Amino acid sequence: MENIHPLVKEIIITNAQIVERSRQLAIKISEFYKQDLNLNQNSLLCVGLLKGCIPFMAEFIKHLEIECETQYMLVSSFFGGTKASGTPQIILDIPVVVVNRDILIVEDIIDSGLTLKMIKEYLLLKGASSVRVVTLLDKKQGRKVELDADWSGFDVPKAFLIGFGLDFEEKLRNLPYVAIADSEKIKKWKW
Ligand code: IMP
Ligand code: MG
Repeated sequence: MENIHPLVKEIIITNAQIVERSRQLAIKISEFYKQDLNLNQNSLLCVGLLKGCIPFMAEFIKHLEIECETQYMLVSSFFGGTKASGTPQIILDIPVVVVNRDILIVEDIIDSGLTLKMIKEYLLLKGASSVRVVTLLDKKQGRKVELDADWSGFDVPKAFLIGFGLDFEEKLRNLPYVAIADSEKIKKWKW
């Protein structure tokens, strides 16, 4: 039985669903890259966007059937609240040269698309030969710029979500499921 946090209004994706979907995505993506004979150095560069990517990335990479290098970037756009602030900023960059590398960005959720659009452009500008995106969750109605994931786990509603990497004030990333947060309780919540 999953432990239900008081800020949860409704669990929309269970842990079992996440585990199964992550496995399916890893298999599909492995097949895709196995057919890419130009894959540089025969190895994919998986770049996780901290900190939300951690639970999904852990679940996803263990089922990948191709050689991959894992690196992380820390990009801020949320600053702890429930509303994204304008321009995303790179707080921590990957410590490797990306020239001619094939990159797969691993993300928890796409909302406005601003973060990924910026990161994709940045990595391509630095010389990556391809930059693709896998996201666990896609909040399609939140888009402010044109940006599509190459692979996505679940479409989710335009609500404030918590769990499985998604935080409220840097907490609740550890919940094993994805839930809609209770908007009334969250307004007056004290930790
Ligand atoms: P975007 O730049 O608007 O696409 O935002 C992407 C980032 O915002 C994600 O990587 C998350 O860190 C965060 N985010 C978007 N929606 C939610 C949510 O419902 N709960 C918590 N974090 C979210
Ligand atoms: Mg994120």
